[in-house]
Amino acid sequence: MRRKVAIIGAGRVGSTTAQVLAYKELCDIVLVNRTAGIAQGVALDIQEGAPIDGIDVDIIGTDDYEKIKDSDVVVVTAGIPRKEGMSRDELLGTNAKIVEDICKKVKRYAPHCVLVVLTNPLDAMVYLAKKVTGFPKNRVVGMAGILDSSRFRSFIAAELKVGVDEVSAMVLGGHGDFMVPLPSHSSVAGIPLTELLPKAKIDSLIKRTRDGGAEIIKLEKESSAFYAPASSLALMVESILKDKKTIVPCAAFLEGEYGINGIFVGVPVILGATGVSKVVELKLGKSEQAALKLSASKIKESIKRLM
Ligand code: LAC
Repeated sequence: MRRKVAIIGAGRVGSTTAQVLAYKELCDIVLVNRTAGIAQGVALDIQEGAPIDGIDVDIIGTDDYEKIKDSDVVVVTAGIPRKEGMSRDELLGTNAKIVEDICKKVKRYAPHCVLVVLTNPLDAMVYLAKKVTGFPKNRVVGMAGILDSSRFRSFIAAELKVGVDEVSAMVLGGHGDFMVPLPSHSSVAGIPLTELLPKAKIDSLIKRTRDGGAEIIKLEKESSAFYAPASSLALMVESILKDKKTIVPCAAFLEGEYGINGIFVGVPVILGATGVSKVVELKLGKSEQAALKLSASKIKESIKRLM
């Protein structure tokens, strides 16, 4: 029997995630959207293409939450996206209501799932998801660091004209203007990034990474990013379903790690069948520690506005 993954929200991120997961032939997929017809249409479209690619998975679209029953993984993508000039934090009030409502249903129908949250402002929404579901900390995780570090990796690869597989990069902190890309933990074929590029160039790649989401909105106007976010979500789902124990940056609930307590912050974690089995603590320099502390304080501020 195939495993079951529910994706809540059939907007561009949700529907692209469904397509990527279908291509990976990892699981059956239930795509949910509260407006009847939308998820059904997307699922049908993907299903109709399956014979071309030789994909054998069941994919259904629905507006009925009961269909997510006993999902192994639930991915929450629902919520309004940013428009040009908006910060992710400006979505807080509207998306909190949406995420709260969804998480009550997740708790009811899929109480044993690993819950993966993408909705912005991510670090506050994943906190809310844990609060509403009451799930243990390992089973609630936010997607941001994989996206942010992939952006950083892609810029480094383009700058050095090397394949993306050669580049490792790490981005910690909140998914916002205060994220903390770590050149000290980024490398190309094992060679520290700091030995390969001058500081001014690294700083400009860091800035572009921080502004990565906004750069896309500025270009597309009506849409925020969805291909790279969907690939990031699919990587997380794959790590969980295959128990790959991948070490990737995700928003995880911290209880003392990195000197931070009681909030979700982007840190490297081991991601596998039980969700987050461990937070990996990197050695940080003084300025990196200070940047992470500042980022955590911004997350705390947005959580306070939620309560
Ligand atoms: C971005 C959105 C997903 O960074 O927050 O593109």
